[in-house]
Amino acid sequence: MEKKTYQFDYQKFNELNELIQEDKKLVEAAQKAAEQAYAPYSNFRVGAAILLENGEILTGNNQENASYPVGVCAERTLLSYAHANFPDLKKIKLAVSVLDTDKEASPCGMCRQTILEYETLQNQPIEILLNSNSGSTLSLSSASALLPLHFDNQSLS
Ligand code: THU
Repeated sequence: MEKKTYQFDYQKFNELNELIQEDKKLVEAAQKAAEQAYAPYSNFRVGAAILLENGEILTGNNQENASYPVGVCAERTLLSYAHANFPDLKKIKLAVSVLDTDKEASPCGMCRQTILEYETLQNQPIEILLNSNSGSTLSLSSASALLPLHFDNQSLS
């Protein structure tokens, strides 16, 4: 038996002004997108913004449904749109922002798996910025850190 340990490094910024300009702009786009979230059931508004390799920023937000399980998180709303429309452009970094709590956003398991799919596909890490309404922001250099021992296309072969 071998004992294995999993750990990863990330940064915590206490306010938006500590971020580099590019990251601050992306987080602000996610915050703005959160304002348009359709979240009448949870009242938990989430916005997401992605920076593509051509410099373009796309945004999305959570879209809920009276049939609760049909609702889609901000991250997957955005990633589906991004890949449907710009499949050939790499996804450089993704910001996720929550409006209604001062705890930083934390993607659910399905969203982690979805982000990882695109990271694996493009063979380049997607940086992640997780932001709260107080401005505090966690910065991770790769989506794969969020999903240890993950299942991906390599697992299928
Ligand atoms: N939600 C997101 O959109 N992204 C996350 O990272 C966490 C949760 C949404 C799903 C649902 O509409 C609401 O937040 C409450 O769970």
